[in-house]
Amino acid sequence: MQYHKHEAIIVGAGGAGLMAALYASRHADTAVISKLYPTRSHTGAAQGGIGAALGNLEEDHWEWHAYDTVKGSDWLGDQPEIDAMCREAIDVVIELEHMGLPFDRTPEGKISQRPFGGHTNNETKKPVRRACHAADRTGHMILQTLYQQCIKNRVNFYDEFQVMDLLLNDGRVTGVVAYEIGTGELHVFHAKAVLFATGGFGRIWKITSNAHALTGDGNAVALRRGVPQEDMEFFQFHPTGIRGMGILITEGVRGEGGVLINNEGERFMDRYAPTVKDLASRDVVSRAIYLEVAAGRGINGEDWVWLDVRPETVNKYFERDGVTNPDGTPRRITAEYIEQKLPDIADFTRTYLGIDPVKEPMPVQPTAHYAMGGIPTDVRGRVLIDSKETILPGFYAAGECACVSVHGANRLGTNSLVDIVVFGKWAGDDMAQFCRENDFAPLPETTWEPTAELLERIRTNSDGENVADIRREMQALMMKNVSVFRTQELLDEAVAEIQKLRERFRHVTIMDKGKRFNTELLEAWELGNLLDLALVTAAAAANRTESRGAHARDDYPERDDENWMKHSLAWLEEDGSVRLDYKPVRVAYNPDGSLKYPPIKRVY
Ligand code: FUM
Repeated sequence: MQYHKHEAIIVGAGGAGLMAALYASRHADTAVISKLYPTRSHTGAAQGGIGAALGNLEEDHWEWHAYDTVKGSDWLGDQPEIDAMCREAIDVVIELEHMGLPFDRTPEGKISQRPFGGHTNNETKKPVRRACHAADRTGHMILQTLYQQCIKNRVNFYDEFQVMDLLLNDGRVTGVVAYEIGTGELHVFHAKAVLFATGGFGRIWKITSNAHALTGDGNAVALRRGVPQEDMEFFQFHPTGIRGMGILITEGVRGEGGVLINNEGERFMDRYAPTVKDLASRDVVSRAIYLEVAAGRGINGEDWVWLDVRPETVNKYFERDGVTNPDGTPRRITAEYIEQKLPDIADFTRTYLGIDPVKEPMPVQPTAHYAMGGIPTDVRGRVLIDSKETILPGFYAAGECACVSVHGANRLGTNSLVDIVVFGKWAGDDMAQFCRENDFAPLPETTWEPTAELLERIRTNSDGENVADIRREMQALMMKNVSVFRTQELLDEAVAEIQKLRERFRHVTIMDKGKRFNTELLEAWELGNLLDLALVTAAAAANRTESRGAHARDDYPERDDENWMKHSLAWLEEDGSVRLDYKPVRVAYNPDGSLKYPPIKRVY
């Protein structure tokens, strides 16, 4: 066992972790521990843009962004927090630009912006150009920019270290235990404050846009240490994953004019969202695809549709709908424009499908993409451990693993990148302050030993099943039972089946008994995380008897604000059962005391 001491420890090197590290490191000795080399983090997969009401190409206001976010969240997002995020987004995007982020530019040299799902001009209700982008590599550029800044700021990096436990002593977080992937050694990190920014857990589903690394490690570790998970029933399916693979095709494709087409050659979003069409919020578009498939209008009667961004198709609909450029001239695109604005997408489809998107449509289907829920926090990233919002001192979370909650029941595209930089910044800032005001608390008596025991048990188990079999069954079950449309029967069955898988997992067996780069051992540990998160996801979904955002129940098709305008909190108990509690959604008020965002039924 090796021992390290840093004032601020950040777990995860995606955009939230790096932004927090940058801010924490301005005043505290800061270290980032990451299972991946930082620039391989999943922020790099966020393609289409970061939302900020800069108004560079047309009129826009942060208040419009906030309203769209509340509406997108289906009135489950906390409204003052949404206001704060959308207001701050403008400054943070400019801050990123000043750090050197190579945004695309308008001819006048301003940051270029494109339309994205659910982002509207609140007066005309038409899509607004709000997504600031660097081609279709926006997340990648954020990652590179922040990593450079962290290096410049002398942040310490522990790359390819897997954090496996959170250390608490006397009601305060005091550090973490990590496994060094290259050597198999355990390390104890003693800290004044710890922030989890470990990303999502889309790997509990079979079809997902999430990288193999997204196994919810921070969420699962926190859950096992008694921290609840908020709003786990809300998991976003992005409408356009590559058919059968799930790899993301950015919403930016539809932002640039791409359209979804069914087997009858119909642009079916005309029917589901007459005003914004293919740029409705993701929950609406994913449901529309499922309904088209259920009605037999999937391509060749199968479970997918076309995404068509060929210039002749796009221009036909631009002409039909009278779409214009910011200067009022008719909008038209060319093949060169697509190549310039969507180079990665063109590359992906050519590589993975042998399809040239400027000449052929792309086969797509909804793909598990983003956890709206996660570790409950306030806007400063401080972790809240109950329905009274008690703070757990020294513990922070930011990014997808956290739930502020600004995304509510459905996140708008581009708001994940806003979330990571805004809340990463504020959390890093708060950590620095916490480190200034507090000494190191002592470590608990037991630190690395439970992790060593757990790993030894997995390494030495015999006669059990292998990791891949259990994982495959879990992913298929979640895809069938806890998907875009849900029912009580499906959800109850999911809870029961996951419990059986968790039991089988206790005897999981691996073949690699070695210490160095034992990825099989790591995958086994990650599977345990996925199973725990699958369980709380299904249990929270089974208990919510309404439809809201990404949680669509065939048996309870209406949103029920009277009974369900509240956040769920889920705990995993010692006996493996899930305990649920709830806390109200925070609403915002106008100066005259009236509701700022009175709930309405969403229409796009
Ligand atoms: O479609 C996309 O480019 C994804 C962005 C996001 O999830 O915000």
